[in-house]
This record gives sequence, structure tokens and C-alpha cells, in this order.
Amino acid sequence: MGEFEMSNISINDIASFCKKKGFVFPTADIYGGLGGFFDLGPLGVELKNNIKHYYWNDLVRRKEFMTGIDGSIITHPKVWKASGHVDNFFDYQVSCDKCKNSFRADNLIEEVLGIDADGLNPSEMDEIIKKDKIVCPKCKGSLGKAVAYSLMFSTNVGAGQSGVISYLRPETAQSIFINFKNVLDSQRLKLPFGIAQIGKAFRNEISPRNFLFRLRELEQIEIEFFVHPKKIDNCPFFDRIKDFEVLFLSREAQTHDKNKSTKEKNVKLKEILNRSNPWQLYWLYEVYLWYIRYGIKKENLRIREHLKEELAHYAKSCFDIDYRFSFGWKEICGNADRGSFDLEQQSRLSNSKFEIFDEETKEKVIPLVASEPSFGVERAILTILSEAYEYDLERDNVVLHLSSKLAPIKFGVFPLIKDEKLIKLSREIYDTLNAKHNVFYDEAGSIGKRYARQDEIGTPFCLTVDFQTLEDGCITIRDRDSKLQQRFSLKNIKGICEALLDNEIKVK
Ligand code: GAP
Repeated sequence: MGEFEMSNISINDIASFCKKKGFVFPTADIYGGLGGFFDLGPLGVELKNNIKHYYWNDLVRRKEFMTGIDGSIITHPKVWKASGHVDNFFDYQVSCDKCKNSFRADNLIEEVLGIDADGLNPSEMDEIIKKDKIVCPKCKGSLGKAVAYSLMFSTNVGAGQSGVISYLRPETAQSIFINFKNVLDSQRLKLPFGIAQIGKAFRNEISPRNFLFRLRELEQIEIEFFVHPKKIDNCPFFDRIKDFEVLFLSREAQTHDKNKSTKEKNVKLKEILNRSNPWQLYWLYEVYLWYIRYGIKKENLRIREHLKEELAHYAKSCFDIDYRFSFGWKEICGNADRGSFDLEQQSRLSNSKFEIFDEETKEKVIPLVASEPSFGVERAILTILSEAYEYDLERDNVVLHLSSKLAPIKFGVFPLIKDEKLIKLSREIYDTLNAKHNVFYDEAGSIGKRYARQDEIGTPFCLTVDFQTLEDGCITIRDRDSKLQQRFSLKNIKGICEALLDNEIKVK
């Protein structure tokens, strides 16, 4: 791919590839599916688990100042009143006067006019729809006015009169805020520290679309990073990262004017410190780097500053990490400075105290959430698959260039032909490696076909047992990307395979 070229696979092609190969299926496919809900197949569940494992491992478990929780999806309804979601979590929809279909107003404007409509208020959207004569995309009928539509999924908890209405959580973050005191009382923590969580969230999106991009049931990995209010500028890591360059789209460079293009430019993190705080930039850097480490090209990532009008009700500032999808630059992670909004709100409505004693200043303070890296797992799957997918003309098949850590299957093990001795040895190798990794044994079809099948699903290495193996105790290992093959001794096959996965050695 050339510089700044979009991912080369369309969203429809990636959806059919995912279904065909067992990564992702539309839910209840047999009944025609249900918009915004998907099921993961045998390869999808492995890929998703690997993404969650390595994100948690790299950004939570390996950091001394991080800890984690796992909160419930349904919680006390007051949580959502305090968080502001009951009153503020909505999008604007327009409905067709003729066919009655509804559409998310900003998305419709973006699609029809090719402009950025984030942050437009309802009367601005009404005006654009009228001025540019936007009609119903389904039946060309006229559209009504933009009206607010709550994204909260409500449900009854308990039966009959004693039941209460609550909500499926729209973000995982609040589970962290309401447990702030419990975590503090049970762990020995001092500021600054972060609490992380992986879990499902639900949003009744008006128009779910673009496959895994806009869902009604999604998974997030969120970190709430708490700092002393007087020490938000003390980030000991900033010096190390200050010269890291990112592609940056500032607030000023964004425009709703369709005749002007939006322009991003390369900046060093220190150059945007005045728009942010060092902890927010530190976490943006960590997530940016995580994506690069797992195979995303740096030029396909950018940081976009939120416009004032689009800031969530809790955010003081917010930056997205965007990926260059085939359908344009789109948000894959958010990072808001939430200040003291959430702890203060939850504290006020519950009459709890969310204070922490600071040894250094000898005072009790309500911490600030200087940074909230919010990572969407399904958008990560879509990003990683879009980047990895290549139709290799020479091989005449798809090659999925997944990082070996994320690949659903790590090794293919094949006997060259269906010979009893070769099968026996291949099975032994399979058992050795399968104790720790997901390994696929295959004896069907030509060796070329077996390589092609593994290339298509991203298996980084294939091991072939042949007749020479019976004599010299060596097997052939083939690398998915380079197609190079090398013979390795079976004596330390476990160690060799580990070293290959960790990129410590290469097939030459
Ligand atoms: N707690 C902050 C928060 O939830 P957000 O920008 O609304 O912020 C964070 O969401 C991330 O969650 C997004 O960057 C995206 O990756 C993912 N996400 C949000 N809504 C989504 C949806 N409808 N479908 C898929 N992923 C979504």
C-alpha cells in the first residue's frame, strides 16, 4: 500500500470474508439477522481473545500503577442518572414522512454531502437537509426534523410492582467510578493510578452500519486514570515520549464546509501539550503504539481533536485515534479528560465520599480523571483485519498478514502425504505444540492447498513432516509472509516455535 492509501478491502468484502472463513457471522442469520448485532465464529473468538489478552497484558498487567475490575452490565438506575446518560446520551434522528424509516441525521449528511457533520446541532442539520435537498435514501420521500433519540437500552429488573427499570450500560466506565471506593479500600493504591476493565456495553444506535463499526452490542476496554488535582502536569513518562511524532488533526483544521478539505499534519506530542495534559498524551501514545506493535502502519493512524460542540457532557477535552478505513478516517479509540465530573456526580447522588489521602500534600482530594483511553474491541478487530487482508495475485489467494501474537491459529502441522509414519510423527508434534497454542492439523489435499488455507486465515507458520524427517529428525517450517522455508531440528521444536512467535528468530 502506498503512503496514505486507504485499506484496500471494502467493508462488504471484509464482512463476506469474515463469514466465509468463520470469523464473524450476522446474529440469527437464519432469521435474516438483527441490525447491529453479530456473533463471533471459531476464528473470530480466538482473534478477539488474543486482542483482549495482549491489550490487557501490555497496558494493564505490565504497569505497576494499574489495576482492574469486572463490573456488572446492569447496575442501579441511579448510576445512569448521576452519570448524565439518562438525560444526555442521545443522537439526532430524521424520519421519512413516506416510508417511516429513521436515519441518524449527522451520518446521513456525511454520506450524502461527504462533509464532517460531527457536532452539528439539530437546527443546523435541519437547515443543511433543507438547503441541500437531502431526501430519504430508501424511498426518496421527504425527511422530517431532527429529533433527539436516547441510545440507552432499558430493561425491567425484578417482577411486577416491585420491579425497577434500569439500563444495559452504555459505557463500561461507570462501573469503575462506582467501585472507586471499594478498590481504594481493598488495595494499597496511591495517586496517580488507573483502573481498567474489559466488558460489554450496549447502545441502541439509530443506524448501526459498516459491519463491526457501529454496533448495538459492543465490547470496550476502558481505563480511568486518576491523578491528584494539583499534579495533573506531573507525568514522569512525558519526557520519554515528547518527541514521538503522530499525524494530528487539530480542532481548527476541521470544518463543516464541504469545499474545504480537512488537513492533518505530523506533530511531536510536545507540540500539542497545550491542548491536552501529559497523562492524556501518554495514554494516546500507549494505544497508538499498541496498534503499531500489532501490525497497523503508522501512516494509517491519526489523532483527531474533538470540536467543542461534539464533546461529551462529561469531557473537558477529547482526542480520538482514527484509522484510515476503506470508508474514510474513523474513530477506533477515544481519550477524554473527564476531570472530576464522574466521581463528583456519583458521590453527590449516593452520599458517598470518593476522596483519597495524599501522603505528600497531607490532604484529602477528589482525584481527576486526566485520561480515559477507551478502546472498542470490535473496531480493533475490524482495523486489524482491514490492515492484514491482502489478495496476493502471485499466490492467487488471500493472505492475512496478522501479527503472530493475534493470529487465531499459530501453527499448521502437516504430514507431507498420508503415510502412517508421517501421520504418527505429525500427530506427536501437534500434541506437543497444542498444549500451549492453537494448532491446526491437516492432511487433506496437496501441500500447496494446505499452505493456502492457512495463509487465508493468517496462520504465521506451517510445519511439514516428510520422509527425510524420519532420517534426520528435522522438519520444514514455512513462513506465511515470506513463503521462505527452513529445516529445524525436532529436538527443541517447542523452543523454536516460541522464538518464532516472539519474533526472536526468523525463517530464512
Ligand atoms: N467511556 C467513553 C466512551 O464510551 P465513546 O467514544 O463513546 O467513549 C469509546 O466510545 C469507543 O468505544 C469508541 O472509540 C469505539 O471504539 C467504541 N464504540 C463506541 N460506540 C460503538 C458502537 N456503536 N459500535 C462499536 N464500537 C463502538
